Amino acid sequence: MLRLHRQQSAALRAVRSLHSTPRRRREPFDPSNVERASDEVDVCIVGGGPAGLSAAIRLKQLEQEKGREIRVVVLEKGAEAGSHILSGAVVEPRALNELLPDWQERSGHPLTQPTTHTSMRFFTKSSSLRIPQPPQMKKMGTYILSLSQFTAWLGTIAEELGVEVYPGFAGAGLVYGPDGKSVLGVRTNEVGLDREGRMKDTFEPGMEFRARVTLLAEGAHGSLSKEVIRRFRLRENSDPQTYGMGVKEVWRVDPSKYRPGEVVHTMGWPVDWKTYGGGWVYHMADGLVSLGLVIGLDYANPYISPYRELQRMKHHPYFRDLLSGNSTRIAYGGRTLNEGGLQSLPQLYFPGGALIGCSAGMVNVAKIKGTHNAMKSGMLAAEAAYDAISAQEEGSSEPADMSAYETTFRNSWAYADLHEVRNVRPSFNTPLGMWGGITYSGVDTLLLKGRTPWTFRNTKKLSDAAHTKRASECAPIEYPPFEPPLSTDLLTSLALTGTNHAEDQPVHLRVRKYGKGSADAGLEVKPGTKEGLETEQYEESKAVRREHVKVNVGEYAGLLGRACPAQVYEYVDDEAAQSEDSEGWGGKKLVINSQNCIHCKLCDIKVPTQDITWTVPEGGGGPKYRREDSGDATRRVMVHVMRVSAARKRQYLPEKGPADQSPLAAFISSKSPPTHRARPSSEAPSSSLPTALSCTQNACCTLELASLLPTMSARTLAALARIPAPANAVSSSSRGCVPQHIRNMSKVSHEPRSESLFATSPSRWHSVGRTLPPLSRQRALHTSAVLRHGHLTRPEPGTGIKLHFKDSKGNLIKTVEANEGDDILSIAHEHDIDLEGACEGSVACSTCHVILTPEHYDLLPEPEDDENDMLDMAFGLTDTSRLGCQVQLTRELDGMTATLPSATRNMFVDGKKSAHH
Ligand SMILES: Cc1cc2nc3c(=O)[nH]c(=O)nc-3n(C[C@H](O)[C@H](O)[C@H](O)COP(=O)(O)OP(=O)(O)OC[C@H]3O[C@@H](n4cnc5c(N)ncnc54)[C@H](O)[C@@H]3O)c2cc1C
Ligand code: SF4
Ligand code: FES
Repeated sequence: MLRLHRQQSAALRAVRSLHSTPRRRREPFDPSNVERASDEVDVCIVGGGPAGLSAAIRLKQLEQEKGREIRVVVLEKGAEAGSHILSGAVVEPRALNELLPDWQERSGHPLTQPTTHTSMRFFTKSSSLRIPQPPQMKKMGTYILSLSQFTAWLGTIAEELGVEVYPGFAGAGLVYGPDGKSVLGVRTNEVGLDREGRMKDTFEPGMEFRARVTLLAEGAHGSLSKEVIRRFRLRENSDPQTYGMGVKEVWRVDPSKYRPGEVVHTMGWPVDWKTYGGGWVYHMADGLVSLGLVIGLDYANPYISPYRELQRMKHHPYFRDLLSGNSTRIAYGGRTLNEGGLQSLPQLYFPGGALIGCSAGMVNVAKIKGTHNAMKSGMLAAEAAYDAISAQEEGSSEPADMSAYETTFRNSWAYADLHEVRNVRPSFNTPLGMWGGITYSGVDTLLLKGRTPWTFRNTKKLSDAAHTKRASECAPIEYPPFEPPLSTDLLTSLALTGTNHAEDQPVHLRVRKYGKGSADAGLEVKPGTKEGLETEQYEESKAVRREHVKVNVGEYAGLLGRACPAQVYEYVDDEAAQSEDSEGWGGKKLVINSQNCIHCKLCDIKVPTQDITWTVPEGGGGPKYRREDSGDATRRVMVHVMRVSAARKRQYLPEKGPADQSPLAAFISSKSPPTHRARPSSEAPSSSLPTALSCTQNACCTLELASLLPTMSARTLAALARIPAPANAVSSSSRGCVPQHIRNMSKVSHEPRSESLFATSPSRWHSVGRTLPPLSRQRALHTSAVLRHGHLTRPEPGTGIKLHFKDSKGNLIKTVEANEGDDILSIAHEHDIDLEGACEGSVACSTCHVILTPEHYDLLPEPEDDENDMLDMAFGLTDTSRLGCQVQLTRELDGMTATLPSATRNMFVDGKKSAHH
């Protein structure tokens, strides 16, 4: 179903735009013709995971210890620190003990559940046997925690120390020195391009962070990390990186099944004996259990689906029992992890920067733990960066020398940790096969402890993709039917990831054929080639897509359709996909549902044709693995402030705006066109603002959402900014009530703050100083009466307009009768039907999304722009989707059905929480 929605939605958008308020013609974006705002920092860290944040914290500690001020920026593509980190981990606190020796006394630390018991089990289809476990697994002194929560906690500590953490900002490209031989910083992604790469009204070019040191902390298979590894030949002396795919779920289990602190690792079924893999069950704090399965991406059979393997694993009697009774699944996710170990570590530094954490590959595969090593590497890189910057002359343009980091890492316990287990994973790829690997690794971990004179190497330099066999050589796998709620279809699980990408943006999964001298898409370096400083050459065309389909469908049974844990790839029937000039082959074409992507990077690594490149989407999109509030709003305010600052630099905004005048108000009412090019400083300041930039007055905390939601129309912006909508902006809401999200902004601390909260280097950030209004004033803004839904006058039975409500599975919830002019949301509330309506009809959320019967949909007037804007963010959008609050009944709609989608996405009211219907 979702495929259909996605296929049709682009066309739908096009049709909708034809019928709604005319939009300005969109110009194609030309990167060569853009002047970017640029900011200078000492250290720019790409990736706010354990490695990046540990590096940032360590840098600020050194600043305090040694006195040299250092400006540290962390760019994180997730909507907040931790939201893209797959939670549920057993973590060794070794690095944390060194970084924050007093962590136990710090409030809110998430290391509340120590590991109390560990065991290893071997599964056959119907039984499970306890087997001896490697000593690494046995180790106590570890904690079971949510890694995304842990990361968010590190993020708050980093911010307290003065690190500028910018969630929602992806590092999209590297800034190279004039000769291309060094890295000078990072470019963030463009915001506000449409699917065809044309500039929307909200377009803002990415900005450059010019840094003395650039640290790449993107985790496994980072897109910028891949680029530097290729460009600076960092893998010349090491093996290709190899990966595993981890799919996991979190359950709140029946209290009788909950054993806090217990850790169980499994081997054997459901994974076949030719495939490397294993499962886990971690009993976390608060009645939660994390369970999952890692499958080595060197698997051969293209019929394998990691997702289906996980669902099937839960059919084992062990899991049936664990998940029985009053147990509920609350989360699902997937992510690749490095399995190459020590032999696959590239050179860790390059001119001007370094790779830290899993950007380089720090996972100890025998333990399935990488956080401790990632953090340690970040700390060591921070120390090297601080020294390198301190040693530089003021104004020096020489790239920082980070080679000391490689040396200290090699002398560290993190290196020793990887060295000890270096032969464990490769032993599964010897001619002795899986059983040989089990035997060897048993002996190595129990007796030899890595003290062997030999090291197994990937001498053929085989990537994971190269291990894939053709479908004709493998047996198809028949997975058992789902047994909800124990096991469910993928889209039901996907709803639990909270994943979301603005629909109308360029597809971030590119089908590309790489030219001579370039690595293939998934590879950092083509084996046997001496790649270097040249720019990569690639082709994106119908012919390339056709070839992709031909090989992947014709020879590999459409591997990605099964392997992707978010059903992004589909090879669909298409009659037009026969001809030579079509983008399909053999009646099939590739559809990429990029909105579903959970950023696991599997496709880039495993696709047999090596022609899929994962690029960063607009920042802020992607999964939301972390649901708890942690000052989310505060961070988003900071992001807003950064944009305001950038705008001032580009002279869109005056240095200090008068408190009684909002440039946003002026912008909205004048509806002046956005300026796409930064204005050269010689030109006079302009009063026109890019839509995404907002105010100079003190209401930033109410306006910052506007800056984050670049697709919003003038009317919605006006509603958010709490200023009168311009007279010519059509109001499609009959109520115009106060957006409820503004009340939620009380999560922001309203103590008057100096600029130090937002700007740790006042000399550079002089323009952002302002205070947030005190709480009392905020509240005064929020107390306007909100019109309630419900309380309609019900018609006499048999005289009203009939409306059927159905649930997402098509089951009838209720048939009701209502009057002409009543809207679907109010009717639902009147009849206690669970349709949320979080913004109470002000077209500032999409929680009242309903799917209508096509024959009735066609009878309705076209949605306005602002409804379309919100629909773009709705979960499970279809071609007959509408916002319930905007659809008023007429007689001709008698007998209409409104189906509730399986989930809603509450973008504004509480920060993108997904809720199930
Ligand atoms: C299924 C699974 C189970 C695991 N279990 C454990 C365990 O039990 N114990 C353990 O210690 N380790 C475990 N690991 C490994 C552990 O997750 C990693 O070793 C650790 O997270 C690495 O930290 P990192 O900071 O290097 O990368 P990550 O944690 O991956 O963080 C990288 C961050 O960078 C961001 N980012 C990436 N690219 C960009 C970009 N271009 N611009 C901006 N931001 C970007 C990402 O959104 C992310 O927030 C597991 C991994 C997986 C996948
Ligand atoms: S599209 Fe690629 S990166 Fe995204 S979820 Fe699917 S396999 Fe993972
Ligand atoms: S209730 Fe929020 S858009 Fe309808």
